[in-house]
Amino acid sequence: MRILVLNGPNLGRLGTREPDVYGTATLADVAPLVEAAGNPERPVEAEVRQTDDEAELVGWIHEAVDTATPVILNPAAFTHYSYALRDACAQLQGVAPLVEVHISNPHARETFRHTSVVSAVATGVIAGFGLDGYRLAALAIAAR
Ligand code: DQA
Repeated sequence: MRILVLNGPNLGRLGTREPDVYGTATLADVAPLVEAAGNPERPVEAEVRQTDDEAELVGWIHEAVDTATPVILNPAAFTHYSYALRDACAQLQGVAPLVEVHISNPHARETFRHTSVVSAVATGVIAGFGLDGYRLAALAIAAR
């Protein structure tokens, strides 16, 4: 199974970005974690991408819709205000699962992070488990 693992703004800087919040692992560590959710009978292939550009991220969701590909999405700051991203994600409903992932637990942080405009159109949400959240998301997708 192929999973698109899409990451929004500033996540390309994992490893050096606020390590007290996001840890010291980098985005390069995500693909093996996601692929660890597979097994010999059902291998998982992770295609990890990152962009700081809202339009590019929206385009990648369209691609997932058109190819019925499951998505693990960390929308980063777009989580909190991008209706364009939300509307793109809504098109995936009934087509393929989408799991929203956050490395930190946004609910334990600033008030503006308590709102996700994406969650209502996601299949589910995993937050607060560090990078392991990506593996947990892949397990959830693989179990469906
Ligand atoms: C984040 C949480 C967001 O609030 C923040 O803007 C991010 C990362 C997380 O993974 O914890 O960039 O999505």
